[in-house]
Amino acid sequence: MTRIAYLDGEFLPLGECRVSALDRGFVFGDGIYEVSAVLDGGLVDNDSHLARLVRSVGEISLALPVTLERLIEIQKELITRNGLVNGVVYMQVTRGPAEREFGFPAAPKPTLFMFTQTKEIVASPNAATGIRVKSVPDLRWARCDIKSVSLLAQVLAKQAAAEAGCYEAWMVRDGFVTEGGSSSAFIVTADGTVVTRPNSNAILPGCTRKALLALAAEGAIRVEERLFTLDEAFAASEAFMTSASTFVYPIVELDGRTIGTGKPGPIATRLRQIYVDFARADAKLAENRP
Ligand code: PDD
Repeated sequence: MTRIAYLDGEFLPLGECRVSALDRGFVFGDGIYEVSAVLDGGLVDNDSHLARLVRSVGEISLALPVTLERLIEIQKELITRNGLVNGVVYMQVTRGPAEREFGFPAAPKPTLFMFTQTKEIVASPNAATGIRVKSVPDLRWARCDIKSVSLLAQVLAKQAAAEAGCYEAWMVRDGFVTEGGSSSAFIVTADGTVVTRPNSNAILPGCTRKALLALAAEGAIRVEERLFTLDEAFAASEAFMTSASTFVYPIVELDGRTIGTGKPGPIATRLRQIYVDFARADAKLAENRP
C-alpha cells in the first residue's frame, strides 16, 4: 500500500514529497517536530503533544502555518488515508526555504510535513522481555526542552547504543542521567519509589512521562522528581523508559549490568498496564478518531 503523507497543503504519496534543498530544516536543523501515538485507529494524549508543539514553535519564534483545528484534521485524514490502526503520526514544521543566512528570513514560509508509521506499540516484544540500555555523555545544547529536529547528539547516542546491542541510550550530564535518546528515564528504588528527573531545560518534558506521573499518583505509587546518578540506577530494583512510540518499556540491563532481577519489574509492568488502559480509553473518544 502506498503511504500517503501531507506536505504544505497537499496529500501525496510519501515518495513524491519534495522539499527545497534550501529548506532551513535541511540546512540548519531549524525546525520542530512532534510524535503522537495511534492506538486502535485513535490518537493518544494528542492535546498534550499539540500543546508541546505550540510551546516549542513559540520558543523559536516560528508560527504554525495552519490552525490547530486544521492540524488535527490532517492527522485524522492521514490515519484514514493510510488505514492506520497502530503506530504514530509524525509532524514537522521548519522555517522553510530561504537564501542561506543564519538570521530569520523577513517573510518565512514554514514547511509543514506530516506522515504516519505503523508500529505495534502494545504488542511489542520489548515490553515483554525488557530492553538493554547503554549510557553515553549528553552532548546536547542548553535547550533540550525544545523538541528540535536538530537531533545529531541523539542520533550518535542511539547509534552507540545499537552498536552495543542496546535499544536505548541514557544520556549523562554532570554525573546525572538526563533522559533517553528519545525517551524519558525512570528508576525504582528498593522501597518502591519511582524516581525521575524534574522537568527543566535539560530534558524534553515528556507527554507520556506527564500522563504516567498523574496515573501513578492515582494508583498510589510513590513518585519522587529528582536527579539520579548511574550508580543509583545500577543499584535500582527496576528501571524503565517512556515515550509516545513505546509507552512504557521495562529496562533489564544498563551498561551490561543487570537491573533488579533481570526481568521486567512489577512496578514497570503495572505502570505499563495502567498507561495502556489510559491510552485505549483516550483513543476510543470520538474527538480523537477520524
Ligand atoms: N521522542 N525525551 C526525548 C529526548 C524524546 O525525543 C522523547 C520522544 C521523549 C519522550 O516524550 P513523549 O513521551 O512525549 O514521546 C523524551 C519521540 C517519540 C521521537 O523522537 O520519536
